[in-house]
Amino acid sequence: MKTALIIAAALLAFAGTASASQSLAQKSGCLGCHQVDKKVVGPAFKDVAKKYKGNAKAEEHIAGVVHNGSKGVWGAMPMPAQSQVKSDDAKALAKWIMSL
Ligand code: HEC
Repeated sequence: MKTALIIAAALLAFAGTASASQSLAQKSGCLGCHQVDKKVVGPAFKDVAKKYKGNAKAEEHIAGVVHNGSKGVWGAMPMPAQSQVKSDDAKALAKWIMSL
């Protein structure tokens, strides 16, 4: 009984984190160009996670992309720097993307 409660609480906490990052992506303006599992203007975040899987510097790289933009990695369309995003938020977004 107690175990079930702990598991339920853990699941809730997990779901909470996932949607918090989705809404952070929304708030940060990422979802205008990106979706989790579909290419829009930019690559699907799941494809990004796949590309950098196993790369120890992936989160650092992605947080850097948020602030510096990116071009020529996924296609002809460049990503403009999102300098309005706070660096803690950029790190949280990078972590979330790599968890997809
Ligand atoms: C105006 C459209 C636009 C917005 C807004 C945007 N992106 Fe992008 N993003 C792109 C495009 C286009 C690319 C592909 C760039 C390339 O080929 O190098 C990209 C690439 C990326 C990549 C992969 C970079 C790489 O080196 O592989 C990541 C990660 C990413 N975006 C994250 C984000 C996050 C997080 C946000 C929100 C803070 C965001 N993007 C906002 C258009 C956008």
